[in-house]
Amino acid sequence: MCSVVRTVAASNARVLSSLKSPLYVVVVGGTAGIGRAIALSIGQQCPSANITIIGRNESAANSILPQLGSNSKFIRADVSLMSEIRSATQKIDAVDMLILSQGIASMAGRTPTTENIDNKLALHYYGRVLFIQELLPLLRSSQNGGKVLFVFDSMRGNPSKVIWNDMALENTYSLMSAGNHPMVFTDLVIQHFASQPENTNVTFTHACPGAVKTQITDGFPIWARLPLKGIIAMGLGISPEDCAEYMIHGMLETDKGWRCVDNKGEILSKKTPAQPDMIEKVWEHTSQLLSSTQKNHS
Ligand SMILES: NC(=O)c1ccc[n+]([C@@H]2O[C@H](COP(=O)([O-])OP(=O)(O)OC[C@H]3O[C@@H](n4cnc5c(N)ncnc54)[C@H](OP(=O)(O)O)[C@@H]3O)[C@@H](O)[C@H]2O)c1
Repeated sequence: MCSVVRTVAASNARVLSSLKSPLYVVVVGGTAGIGRAIALSIGQQCPSANITIIGRNESAANSILPQLGSNSKFIRADVSLMSEIRSATQKIDAVDMLILSQGIASMAGRTPTTENIDNKLALHYYGRVLFIQELLPLLRSSQNGGKVLFVFDSMRGNPSKVIWNDMALENTYSLMSAGNHPMVFTDLVIQHFASQPENTNVTFTHACPGAVKTQITDGFPIWARLPLKGIIAMGLGISPEDCAEYMIHGMLETDKGWRCVDNKGEILSKKTPAQPDMIEKVWEHTSQLLSSTQKNHS
């Protein structure tokens, strides 16, 4: 850990120890990579915390849980499915911090889940919003002020490239749009949540981790994976542990409302508030899609 990260980690430790304990933390995608490192860092600073990690890999979870303190637990769920998210959130009864770090890297075309949502969009956007929707009552009543952190990409979303007449990319899927839509929609949806008067006790942060040495690139085909591994071996990217400190810093330093932060957890001052009609469009589409999955399963 370099001295800059050590300073950030010390500041995180100070803020975390000033919060009312025990802390209730939910890390979706906490079985690997950045999410795992965030869970471990908070667990180390706050041994009394109740940390819930969510993912599919039970053996990975079993190796992490003993390091998270005796109040921690694992909820097994495929969070590409809205039905599984609804069941998982039923098992949670308090939340101060909700960290959304689930994700994949894939070059496949549109891959519909059994709920007919593209797998990548479900993981990177729709399922994350559903976690917030389901857990908002608990976040609102947090004595520490609820905190939501999206670990995704707050830097590269381009609203001018959004396909507004096919927001779920059912007919016009491309890798570029499947990357861009969740980035832009996340920037906009956090502005929607923050604008609701009943959410004044909750902050919403969208972070960009930058290049981090995790296993996520294993999802790429071999011709893309090998050169990437070579570049990583040459030094590109930081460790998940260092990244976790920057991400926690971004989440803790976010004042009331919403913020986009960079790979050091610092506020992206160039992000200006979006046009209200864009925010409304994204919210209308998202809530409609999510309620359609509820109907399909009720
Ligand atoms: N690493 C980077 O350089 C980088 C750069 C920019 C953005 N990001 C974004 O940061 C986030 C975290 O990336 P990472 O590098 O930490 O990835 P990672 O190491 O591959 O971890 C991904 C996590 O997502 C979970 N996950 C994936 N599919 C799931 C599913 N269907 N159901 C439940 N959990 C699922 C995995 O859990 P299970 O295996 O247990 O299911 C795992 O805990 C991703 O959204 C990624 O797009 C990463």
